[in-house]
Amino acid sequence: MKIVILGTGYVGLVTGACFAEMGHTVVCYDIDTVKIDNLQKGFIPIYEPGLEELICRNRKAGRLSFNTDLASAMKECTICIIAVPTPSAPDGSCDLSYVLAAARSIALHMSQYCVIITKSTVPVGTSKKIREAVETHLPHPLSFDVVSNPEFLKEGAAVSDCMKPDRLIIGCESEKAAQIMKELYKGFTLNHDRIFFMDPASAEMTKYVANAMLATRISFMNEMAGLCEKLGANIHAVRQGIGSDHRIGYHFLYAGVGYGGSCFPKDIHALEAMARSVGYSTPILHAVDSVNETQKHVLANKMRAYFKTRGGIRDKTIAIWGLSFKPDTDDVREAPAFTLIEELLSQGARLRLYDPVAIPKARAKIARPQINQITWCIDEYHAAENSDAIALLTEWKQFRFVNLDKILDKMEGKAFFDGRNQYRKEDMSLKGFHYFGIGTPND
Ligand SMILES: NC(=O)c1ccc[n+]([C@@H]2O[C@H](COP(=O)([O-])OP(=O)(O)OC[C@H]3O[C@@H](n4cnc5c(N)ncnc54)[C@H](O)[C@@H]3O)[C@@H](O)[C@H]2O)c1
Repeated sequence: MKIVILGTGYVGLVTGACFAEMGHTVVCYDIDTVKIDNLQKGFIPIYEPGLEELICRNRKAGRLSFNTDLASAMKECTICIIAVPTPSAPDGSCDLSYVLAAARSIALHMSQYCVIITKSTVPVGTSKKIREAVETHLPHPLSFDVVSNPEFLKEGAAVSDCMKPDRLIIGCESEKAAQIMKELYKGFTLNHDRIFFMDPASAEMTKYVANAMLATRISFMNEMAGLCEKLGANIHAVRQGIGSDHRIGYHFLYAGVGYGGSCFPKDIHALEAMARSVGYSTPILHAVDSVNETQKHVLANKMRAYFKTRGGIRDKTIAIWGLSFKPDTDDVREAPAFTLIEELLSQGARLRLYDPVAIPKARAKIARPQINQITWCIDEYHAAENSDAIALLTEWKQFRFVNLDKILDKMEGKAFFDGRNQYRKEDMSLKGFHYFGIGTPND
């Protein structure tokens, strides 16, 4: 099958490479000409384990190409996938302008029957809006179908998620399109059928509800972690205690510095906006978001308390390990590390920042006057040099296996603020650190 993907970002590029791997012919199109130019030269714009090999292999095999000319890309194409951004509008609702612009450009270049698939996360009712946009802009009558097929890949594990999806949600009203969707995903569903067909509104809603559920678990555990600290309980033990109940399970129950990334925050806001638009109240969603906003400040508050009797934060040197919003990705969108960075910079701290892959994107995000308070480091040991404290913000595996004696040797102070509970207080105290985790009792 020939597939054109509009939007060559985290979703479009990964799904494009995976569809090519499954034998389809894929053209990834983007309005960002620099990005496409770089991809044509072999530069991959994002870090995602396994992606580079997949792209190289499929380009060599002639199944994957990159293009900024939609007219030529769409020749003989029967499937168009929309994977463009759906950012928050100022009122928190989903800004559909990129999606509708993509729909209009598909209409202008369609030359035969086409299934238009939406992988972008879009509010309930968007399939209808896409249909209207295409109908209005088709230069001559052509039949087409619009299918909602939200994407569930996780950055950091996107290739494996895409190759072995837990489930495929397909919102579709036409039998012809349903058959094409089955054919499209045939290679991904050989073991067992993972496809759930439903109406487009339910498919669109499923994506938001999934993200809202996951964010709710995180905020709930963060709230309970705060309470554990006050009451003298330990969130590690509590997590194990509740996770062993099959109805609860162990996943997504980790306390930390709050969720970030390009999806959870904006999707919670968009879901709240959808509810507002129909006069429905969603106090749980509101609480999930506000607990998360508070949680992003939890390490800064712990640091302020620690340094209060040690001359304050001004002129202290703080090492930050991890800048991406989660491990195995270079995505720094809405990453909690930046809330901490902003707070520490404004209080006059000097920062030594390190992340295994996200430094280029982090540098671009911190273009500001306080940049001279920042030293970019080459590894976690370099970051620890002369630091008064270390703050661990992203649970990259390599931060779990460091030589702690060497780290302590390099430091000026002894404080370790573990925003992802990667270490145990008992072990760290034995080593000589002043250790602070999330949801573990304070002394
Ligand atoms: N990133 C994730 O983990 C993830 C997971 C599931 C769903 N999603 C959803 O998928 C969508 C895309 O997310 P992303 O992270 O891949 O975004 P991204 O910002 O990484 O990439 C989007 C790309 O679309 C391009 N673009 C914008 N308008 C275009 C147009 N009219 N035609 C062609 N290209 C255009 C941009 O230049 C950009 O390269 C969003 O709705 C997001 O919520 C993202």
